[in-house]
Formats: sequence, structure tokens, C-alpha cells
Amino acid sequence: MKLIARLAAASAILAATTLSAETPPNPNAAEAKAIVKEFATTLQGELQAAIKDGGPTNAIAVCQERAPAIAADLSESSGWQVGRTSLKTRNSDNAPDAWEQKILADFDARRAAGEDVQPMAYAEAVETADGKTFRFMKAIPTGEVCLACHGSDITPEVAAAIDERYPDDMARGYSLGDVRGAFSLSKPL
Ligand code: HEC
Repeated sequence: MKLIARLAAASAILAATTLSAETPPNPNAAEAKAIVKEFATTLQGELQAAIKDGGPTNAIAVCQERAPAIAADLSESSGWQVGRTSLKTRNSDNAPDAWEQKILADFDARRAAGEDVQPMAYAEAVETADGKTFRFMKAIPTGEVCLACHGSDITPEVAAAIDERYPDDMARGYSLGDVRGAFSLSKPL
């Protein structure tokens, strides 16, 4: 809570909320959560199917092509800006901005303090150059299926396929339960 309080004081804030399962519903946060759920379900489904089809090497292309495509589709249909980010990105297009970096670091601190990663989220109304913006981030835990491409024991075949597409990859070495990154959504208020 202390870090959140400091973050809140440091930026131009209208409202800051540490969201957990117990937080009373905020309509914007509820909308953002529903979009995240759709994003996660769609991507996970396609990922699992691709792995089943041809193993993780085959599924790399799905992550590369489908993740940004699903994000773009959801952005267009919802009016939110929808994406994924991480402190250690595979694709630098997903690199976090300063606000996202703070929240991601805070997610790691919250996890280190024993908080469950699955429901972990953060919402804040911020003042930007374009006016008031509602920003929402939802932590993404590292599950078993993720380790084939984000763990520390990646097969040489998968590693080579990743290296070929992402020479600047930083997204390896994760363990089960780590915060892999976050969904990040924003919408003008
Ligand atoms: C088949 C390999 C593969 C598996 C399995 C996989 N990923 Fe990824 N992941 C990728 C690739 C490739 C990218 C880069 C996508 C892009 O270009 O936007 C990526 C990107 C990401 C990103 C966006 C931030 C970044 O690093 O660029 C997140 C978050 C992420 N993965 C989380 C997960 C989680 C959570 C799981 C398990 C549910 C998972 N991944 C499973 C290959 C994989």
C-alpha cells in the first residue's frame, strides 16, 4: 500500500485504486476487465491449439501474429487502447511507458509481499496531454504452458525460432507464478 500511496502522490491523479477481488466495482474497471478476459481467453485458446498442433515452435508464429491482431481488433471494437506489456519484453513494440513501468514494478513488489497474481490489477484516472484518461492494468501470471517459451529451460529448437524473430528478446528465465507482464488498457474519460 505504501508504494501505491507514493505513486499516487507523485503523479497528477484524480483517482487511484488498487484493485483486488474485494474492491467494489468501478464501471470502467469492470469494462476493462471484461476486455482483458476476452483477450486472454481468445489468445490462450489459439495458443493451446497451435501447441497441440505442432508444438511450441509452431505456436511462436501464433503469438507473433495473433497477439497484436487480437489486441488491434479489441481496440477497434471497444474504443479502448488494448495491449500487453512487460518489464522484460520479447517484442520491443510492447515496451512499457513510464506509468506502465511503475505499475509493473509494483506488481512484482505486491507478489513478493505475498499477493496472489491472478486477480492482481491497478486502475487510475490520469491527466495526459490529451485530457483525462482511465488506465487499467491486469497482471499476467506465468503458467505452466508459458514456460516452453518464457522459462529458463527452453529447447534449442524453440530458442532458435525465437532468436530468429526476436534478436532482442528479454522474455526468458521466468518461473511458474512470476508476473510475466500485464494487459494494459486505456480510454479517454
Ligand atoms: C509458443 C511460444 C510462446 C508461449 C507458449 C507463450 N508465449 Fe508469450 N510470447 C511469445 C512471443 C513470440 C511473443 C511476442 C509477441 C509479439 O510479437 O507481440 C510473446 C509475448 C508475450 C507477452 C507480451 C510482452 C512481450 O514480452 O513482448 C506477454 C505478456 C506474454 N507473451 C505472456 C505469455 C504468457 C502468460 C504465456 C502462457 C500463458 C505465454 N506468453 C506463452 C511466445 C510464447
